[in-house]
Amino acid sequence: MRAAQERRRDTVALNSAPPSGKAGIDLVSMAFWDRPPEQRLADFARLRELGEPVYFAEPRVPFVRSGTGFYALVRHADVVAASRNAKVFSSEPAATSPEPPPWLAKVFGTPMVNMDDPRHARLRRIVFRAFTPKMLAKIEGDIQATATRIVDDVLAEGPRDFVAQVAARLPIHVICAMMGIPERARPYVLSRIDAMTEYSGVRGSLASPRTLRLLYGNLKAIVDLHRLVARLGEARRRDPSDDLVSALVNANPDGERLSVKELGSFFDLLLVAGNETTRNALAHGLKLFTDHPDQRDLLLGDYDARIGGAIEEIVRYVSPIIQFRRTLTEDHELGGHRFRAGDKVVLFYPAANRDPEVFADPDVFDITRSPNPHVGFGGPGPHLCLGANLARMELKIMFRELYTRLPGLRADGEPEYLLSGFDNGITRLPFTYTG
Ligand code: HEM
Repeated sequence: MRAAQERRRDTVALNSAPPSGKAGIDLVSMAFWDRPPEQRLADFARLRELGEPVYFAEPRVPFVRSGTGFYALVRHADVVAASRNAKVFSSEPAATSPEPPPWLAKVFGTPMVNMDDPRHARLRRIVFRAFTPKMLAKIEGDIQATATRIVDDVLAEGPRDFVAQVAARLPIHVICAMMGIPERARPYVLSRIDAMTEYSGVRGSLASPRTLRLLYGNLKAIVDLHRLVARLGEARRRDPSDDLVSALVNANPDGERLSVKELGSFFDLLLVAGNETTRNALAHGLKLFTDHPDQRDLLLGDYDARIGGAIEEIVRYVSPIIQFRRTLTEDHELGGHRFRAGDKVVLFYPAANRDPEVFADPDVFDITRSPNPHVGFGGPGPHLCLGANLARMELKIMFRELYTRLPGLRADGEPEYLLSGFDNGITRLPFTYTG
């Protein structure tokens, strides 16, 4: 009886759902994300020109994907409006996209990025202090020392792959140091994060053996990381230090302690958010400065004056994070469309960051662009990237060290891209220098 009711409900939902996609564009298909970045951006431009947000149906895969379907927000004004209005555009049940099935949160806990205030604000407050300019100034010396060591190693080994030798090393070191993860555990942590992010983004062919293998690897990686942090958390509860894990396990928000699950999901969030994003910004940055030598020369002509604008332009131009999602809590009009409560929207940052309504010559990489109101760190609102200033500091220190000690530094060939609709990732980038 219940099965029949559910089937009927599904049929009604299918019949009343708008047609999926438009003009041959399918943001849900992995084939879309496998195309060169310029072609994807051209499709986003076509979607922007359509005006009204386009609906994309997502396949439902039992136990794996909710298969809810979403409207794509591709205009800057719409992404900003949805980010700002968190009461109507909720981050629950999940802001990560595609939407994970409900059992995942039950087993592994919910990271704060998938929560609304006041729960979200309560958790954000616990870690916020670690990201203030005052606290970041304290770790600047450690970031500098790590950048120096990375370049020492490049000089000793010779240049092969910029991602493995440079871009992947700094962010993982920094976030692990902040969390108090011992040096010897870091390669293991990095391998677990890679396994988690390999299975990311919007995937169409979910039933393929490769996708299922990736899914298994992803879940196993989460379990491994949760085990590691549970052990670390126990140790820090007994013997607190000044790291983030100590702050998390000894926090007492509203008289409650963080549960083991809450701790685990916090840990995943900070590791994934603090690692992939900055790594990809570094790798894309080197490629951009190689393809645009005039901009590199402009930067190197007055590094301190130019680097701030250069970092914002890298993040705008590249959009290291491609999308986050929201669920409507009530009927609401946006971008010429009347949404219903329960509808899903996905905020596509690369599309918003190239919107000609806001950015003159949006496809030009211009480190002097001002103002540069990009949404690469998310739109304004309660979920605006917590680690943006940390990422800025890492990029500033790393590029200075690289360009000072490796004259003629440049990418030496085309990057290999991560196949993902979530991370705009580079997995390999050959590089060289003349010194
Ligand atoms: C270039 C680097 C980075 C980019 C492009 C980036 C991008 C983003 C974006 C787009 C969001 C918005 C999520 C939403 O609106 O739902 C976000 C949130 C977040 N980011 Fe970043 N991020 C970067 C670096 C970092 C770093 C270094 C950390 C440090 C741990 C970090 C931690 C976070 C956290 C914890 C959130 C969730 C905030 C909340 O829900 O209140 N990010 N980031």
